[in-house]
Amino acid sequence: MRRLDGKVALITGASGGQGEAEARLFVAEGAAVVIADVLVAPGEALAAELVAAGHRAVFVEIDVTDPAAWATVVARVEAELGRLDVLVNNAGVSDRRGVAEQPQDAFDRVVDVNLWGPVAGMQACAPLMARGGGGSIVNVSSIAGLTGYDAAGYTSSKWGLRGVTKTAALELAPFGIRVNSVHPGVILTPMLANVSREVVDRFARVAADPRAAAPEEVAHTVVHLSIEELSSFTTGAEIAIDGGFVAAGAHRAQALRVAQLMEESDA
Ligand SMILES: NC(=O)c1ccc[n+]([C@@H]2O[C@H](COP(=O)([O-])OP(=O)(O)OC[C@H]3O[C@@H](n4cnc5c(N)ncnc54)[C@H](O)[C@@H]3O)[C@@H](O)[C@H]2O)c1
Repeated sequence: MRRLDGKVALITGASGGQGEAEARLFVAEGAAVVIADVLVAPGEALAAELVAAGHRAVFVEIDVTDPAAWATVVARVEAELGRLDVLVNNAGVSDRRGVAEQPQDAFDRVVDVNLWGPVAGMQACAPLMARGGGGSIVNVSSIAGLTGYDAAGYTSSKWGLRGVTKTAALELAPFGIRVNSVHPGVILTPMLANVSREVVDRFARVAADPRAAAPEEVAHTVVHLSIEELSSFTTGAEIAIDGGFVAAGAHRAQALRVAQLMEESDA
């Protein structure tokens, strides 16, 4: 028996990147998956591929900022799949502008998708999860939710998501729902498509494990947090999946810089 047999998991932003990797791991553990995204064609293709391989998967089009769309999706999940055990609030957008350059409309948009989207998702999904006896919610924040980070709106959204995860953990515990946040470091997904590989690798260099990671390396932790026997006492927690990027802190960047300067002065 697989560890999520009979369970239903809804993953937002699952048409590609980390969400897609999560959908693949959830079905491998026996869960039915709801692939929820604004991007229709790749999401439908993924659902069709998983169904053809013998899994249970459906695609639903949703903009996570829209509560009416959430209500429609949850009604459909209940009608077609009968229950909901796991919600992964993974959908997100990036904006790399700092405080000085951040326009208000772009700030509002990134906070809307990355912070309000998960809140709207929890609001819509928690009652159905509670009716089935509870479950697990995983909110995908970022290392930008653990440290200062050079992006004003994005950082605000990810710190906010880290905080509201703890609020939800307190509020939903009486219904048997655990709520945790994960904080990926540098992950190779379409979100980094417009950043050169050299810049990505340089950015990752300060981590204890100095590399960009594959989306599956995040997905395994998300699945772990969704399997009751592996994480039954874990709620309100924040888990960095960053190769020690945050652990390294400013010290590591400075140590590398000093070592380089000493090498140059020896040469
Ligand atoms: N890639 C990284 O290095 C990295 C690092 C830390 C955190 N994250 C976070 O991980 C999560 C997944 O990102 P990814 O790296 O897989 O990027 P990605 O761009 O590949 O995936 C994001 C997905 O979210 C969907 N999406 C965007 N806006 C949406 C909306 N309003 N409604 C529904 N779906 C929407 C997109 O269509 C896309 O499929 C995001 O929350 C991101 O902020 C990424």
